[in-house]
Amino acid sequence: MSEWINKLRDSHADFDKGGLIDSLVTNPFKGFSLWFDEAITNNEIEANACIISTIEVSTLQPSSRIVYLKELKNEQFVFYTNYKSQKGTELLENPKASLLFFWPGLQRQVRIEGLVKKVSLEESDIYFASRPRESQLGAWASNQSEVLNNRNDLISRLEEFDLKFPNEVPRPPHWGGYGLSPNLIEFWQGLPSRLHDRLVFQKTAESWSTFRKNP
Ligand SMILES: Cc1cc2nc3c(=O)[nH]c(=O)nc-3n(C[C@H](O)[C@H](O)[C@H](O)COP(=O)(O)O)c2cc1C
Repeated sequence: MSEWINKLRDSHADFDKGGLIDSLVTNPFKGFSLWFDEAITNNEIEANACIISTIEVSTLQPSSRIVYLKELKNEQFVFYTNYKSQKGTELLENPKASLLFFWPGLQRQVRIEGLVKKVSLEESDIYFASRPRESQLGAWASNQSEVLNNRNDLISRLEEFDLKFPNEVPRPPHWGGYGLSPNLIEFWQGLPSRLHDRLVFQKTAESWSTFRKNP
């Protein structure tokens, strides 16, 4: 056990890449866009991948998985998925969710909490139409989150939909976007001596209150 802990200790970052989070102070969405652009410039792998956590209401069991952020629009963080998936059914019962971005090269994380709503049908149509044909067919073929007894069943379904839609593939009615409207956004910058900087924006009736938290 101690050997295992020592190995991990050696692999931890020194948190010497950043400074205090001053430039973000006024608006959390501008702050997010700034950090997101820096993550892209810094060649972070999968910079738009984030962990979304939802809760199953009857058991209060949280669950997490990665989705891609596709847009930050009208102060909403937009991602796409299958509305009948586990996350989709959980969001139907309890639309509260959290998103977490981790950009290790910059030693940053952003934590976002809020309420999720489906985006308009038109928006989902436009995004679906922009996807590659294989992804479009996959959205029809995969009963996301349901038990799959045999992988060949999935392949056969894909082939069926390929034949069914020889030209344009319509958006499946159970597939589309969600927009998360945040009530909290926390920016975390790793700093030396574990004195990391945490800047929190919490939504108030009028705008946002800002405060720091102990690391
Ligand atoms: C890098 C990465 C990106 C992903 N992006 C998405 C996505 O945008 N939408 C999605 O539904 N699933 C995405 N997935 C798959 C999900 O993590 C998850 O397996 C799937 O949505 C089913 O989750 P659920 O059963 O909890 O609903 C992604 C996985 C990875 C590793």
